[in-house]
Amino acid sequence: IEVFRETTSTNDIIEKLARDGVKEGVVVFAESQTKGRGRLGRRWISPRGQGLWFSILLRPELRPTEATQLTILAATALAEAIRRHTGLAPEVKWPNDLLLRGRKVAGILTELTAEPDRIRHIVLGIGLDVNQAAADFPTDLRRTATSLRVEAGRPFNRAELAAAILRALDQDYARLKDGQFEQIAGEWEELCTTLGRQVVVAIGSRRIRGRAESLDSEGALLVRTEHGHLERITGGDVTLEK
Ligand code: BTN
Repeated sequence: IEVFRETTSTNDIIEKLARDGVKEGVVVFAESQTKGRGRLGRRWISPRGQGLWFSILLRPELRPTEATQLTILAATALAEAIRRHTGLAPEVKWPNDLLLRGRKVAGILTELTAEPDRIRHIVLGIGLDVNQAAADFPTDLRRTATSLRVEAGRPFNRAELAAAILRALDQDYARLKDGQFEQIAGEWEELCTTLGRQVVVAIGSRRIRGRAESLDSEGALLVRTEHGHLERITGGDVTLEK
């Protein structure tokens, strides 16, 4: 485990270590990131000392199409660790957001380097808003983002929380390697508010509207469209409808 005072993005540091041939399991935290990024090219604001901004190098023996399994595993482990440590009960929005009272508290960025039929490595990046006060969020995010402190009404020790999260991730990664993805997916489904809801999935300029039914064995979201087709969603941006 390495901790930086400041980096561009912890995913960049891990990516470099991966290319240098470092073994899986290395974790990099940063107190702040100058170029924190989210999915779909979005920015991730990472103010100094207020959250947990970190990335992990993994080298799972999976096909590239199975990479979503890691995001699902990470969301499940993260939600469970937060629940045990804080008493708060995060919900999961497919595939990578953790919500508290409908507001985003954490995100996961899974970046993949692969050959056509084999993953070379995965950089699992996690951002968790821990100790920000509501006023610390930029105005455009105040209605959609939150922190553990805002929700619980008290601050948390980030080192203890980080240890709890890494332990949960470690345990679930061992379960994945042991062929237990189905069980993890079952736990994820319990936490997931996306299932059973009407959703709109934006993939580039395409929009798919329908009901989120379930996950398949690779972690893709199965959406029953208005026309009765079952669409298999592996990426894109999901919006929950009322
Ligand atoms: C998302 O919600 O779109 C994913 C956000 C992921 C943010 C984390 S913070 C640590 C790691 N480094 C980054 O630049 N991004 C991830």
